[in-house]
Amino acid sequence: MPSSAESLANLPLRDDLLGLSPYGAPQVDVPILLNVNENTHGVPADVHAAIIEAVGKATLGLNRYPDREFAELRRNLAAYLGHGLSPDQVWAANGSNEVLQQVLQAFGGPGRTALGFPPTYSMYPLLSSGTGTRYLTAEREEDYAMTPEATARAVRASAANIVFLCSPNNPTGTALGLDVIEAAYQAGEAARAIIIVDEAYGEFAQEGTPSALTLLPGRPRLLVSRTMSKAFALAGARIGYLAAAPEVADALRLVRLPYHLSAITQATANAALTHARTLLSNVEAIKVQRDRIVAELQRLGLRPSPSDANFVFFSGLEDPHRIWEDLLAAGVLVRDVGIAGSLRVTAGTEEETTAFLTVLGSLLESQRDDQSQRSA
Ligand SMILES: Cc1ncc(COP(=O)(O)O)c(C=O)c1O
Repeated sequence: MPSSAESLANLPLRDDLLGLSPYGAPQVDVPILLNVNENTHGVPADVHAAIIEAVGKATLGLNRYPDREFAELRRNLAAYLGHGLSPDQVWAANGSNEVLQQVLQAFGGPGRTALGFPPTYSMYPLLSSGTGTRYLTAEREEDYAMTPEATARAVRASAANIVFLCSPNNPTGTALGLDVIEAAYQAGEAARAIIIVDEAYGEFAQEGTPSALTLLPGRPRLLVSRTMSKAFALAGARIGYLAAAPEVADALRLVRLPYHLSAITQATANAALTHARTLLSNVEAIKVQRDRIVAELQRLGLRPSPSDANFVFFSGLEDPHRIWEDLLAAGVLVRDVGIAGSLRVTAGTEEETTAFLTVLGSLLESQRDDQSQRSA
């Protein structure tokens, strides 16, 4: 059997896609799934009922194309975001991945560059290569922090057309200070860079962490992307959105597919947005488990990063891949993000979180026992 790379070589694939691997977090059927930062608390019963009703109504009109301008959804999203935003400042697509792809299609492309600060969201380089945009990287400080000065230097030196700032950052979990975003925007002035702040996990931020939405007035090249996959527990529905100056939506209209948001998607999103309060109470419950994970991992002698997200990145493991495998064997799937000594875990329900912490605790204990036997 030829490998898939060999079979691909038979096709006239674009040169710049040769040798690339697709996005591929494992989808494994185990009882406790804590590997892709989904909302582990599910869709509450009243939200479920509202979605069923709205989708039922939308189904009656499926012979017609959906509202191409998704006007009701833009109104609902603007109202949800607040910050004085109007519907013409909001844009949506099938997941924030598609929003980011449209941004790259409109503002990136052949001859243009995008800048990211790894470790960060693994789709930025993939979306860049898919759109023929060259992906550049700049380093972070110790403990994955970013300072306004170093960020501004990197943005200036790269002269990138698009800058990805992930806040809270995936996989490390920590939010950026607004001073970093302001500095990046200012430094991008000369190249007229689009600065995109990816706030996929914004709703999970620690009390008092401001959103980049507060910086939008007077900054026409600043874009803030969000998703309904995380706080709204709708990863399966594929709805992401951004807020920016109205002319950004005009630019994205040039590259979106006609009728890209199905009537079913729009109905689902609108129904969920009318129940935002219920959904956000689950966010509070998830934050409790997230903070519990950080505290417990510290107690186990590991080094969790401060988290503003629904997941925790932690270091201090001797053999993270072995721990990942042993957790999986016990029915708990977490994410090995390929960073030395580290793993990432999504905050689960109280029971899931207990299971993860219990299994991890006993794995670390038996590792310590093995070590002391070897050294005895
Ligand atoms: C930082 C970040 N941005 C964007 C996304 C994409 O989310 P979606 O396409 O489901 O909206 C994810 C998903 O995990 C993410 O971690």
